[in-house]
Amino acid sequence: MLVLGIESSCDETGAAVVDEHGRVLADVVQSQVSLHAPYGGVIPELASRDHLRNVGPVVREALERANAGWDALAGIAVTNRPGLVGALLVGVQAAKGLAWARGLPLVGVDHLVGHLLAVFLRREAGTAEEPPAFPFVALLASGGHTAIYRVDGPSAAQVRELGATRDDAAGEAFDKVGKVLGLGYPGGPVIDRLARGGDATAVPLTLPMGHSKSFELSFSGIKTQVAARVREHGIPKTEKELADTCASFQTAVTSVLAKKLVAAAVQEDVRTVVIGGGVAANRELRARVTALAAEHGLRAVLPELASCTDNAAMIAYAGLVRLQAGERDGWDLVATNATSLPRTTRKGRGIR
Ligand code: KG4
Ligand code: ZN
Repeated sequence: MLVLGIESSCDETGAAVVDEHGRVLADVVQSQVSLHAPYGGVIPELASRDHLRNVGPVVREALERANAGWDALAGIAVTNRPGLVGALLVGVQAAKGLAWARGLPLVGVDHLVGHLLAVFLRREAGTAEEPPAFPFVALLASGGHTAIYRVDGPSAAQVRELGATRDDAAGEAFDKVGKVLGLGYPGGPVIDRLARGGDATAVPLTLPMGHSKSFELSFSGIKTQVAARVREHGIPKTEKELADTCASFQTAVTSVLAKKLVAAAVQEDVRTVVIGGGVAANRELRARVTALAAEHGLRAVLPELASCTDNAAMIAYAGLVRLQAGERDGWDLVATNATSLPRTTRKGRGIR
């Protein structure tokens, strides 16, 4: 069973072909990073226009690389929420047109469910581990979302939020700190690299809510702490100082993420923890989650690096699961900026 996935929720235009074992036959990602880099963040109108230019070519290339004709496909899956509506619309309209023209079923996919299931993808010559068994507890940490979920099955209805960020997403904090330190956009991968040589105890930084027992998180305060230091002392001048700042920030963030993920798994009495989203590519987070899970006798299953950041393979797989369950969407499928997952944490407020 082969499914074509299309992703256009933010600043990557993606198309991929995946089978029912999660095998990735093709995964094409056209990144817009250089387009938005001069502005230090994603400009929605530019994103939509670039998706429009790229969606046809990435779909064609994915089918070519997968060596799959339209007849081989069981359906088309497309991200329809959450994200920038103008960007989402490009993928949704392309998917509708192709599905209608080829007589294929169409399924909309919640981008967050895609990230949560990315751990089931298996890439050619990849390093994928045995996939996790349900139920598991998952940390989703990306540029737009950060939350801890209990996942009882692969459909959106089986996902329950245990706690989320009250303000910025974890990836957003990496990006804002990167900007403050003059590291360009996006800051996450650069901080990850620079932190390697740094002393994580050099700069005192704390994460608000880090000590709280709840699974809520907060990242805007730590960005403010870094910004205040830069205002007072200027941007770190030596490589050593820069590495120390990156390491201190990264350790503060990843230690709280790993701690709360494992605590949530213990509370929920599940045996497995999973991570997903762009921040799941972070080396320190991966190491901390693996080590802390092992300390508690839990299994940690980490997605391959290419499955962490935005891609269409995770969307194809999440759509495939919906198709297998006999679900499909009509031509009235809409693009919307809200996730379908129920929320517990309210922005800026706290537990309901
Ligand atoms: O999942 P993703 O590609 O897009 C969203 O759905 O938001 O996540 C992008 C985010 C960015 O904030 C980026 O800085 C962060 O993931 N990121 C990382 C790393 N790679 C990407 N953050 C920390 N360490 C990394 N290695
Ligand atoms: Zn994402």
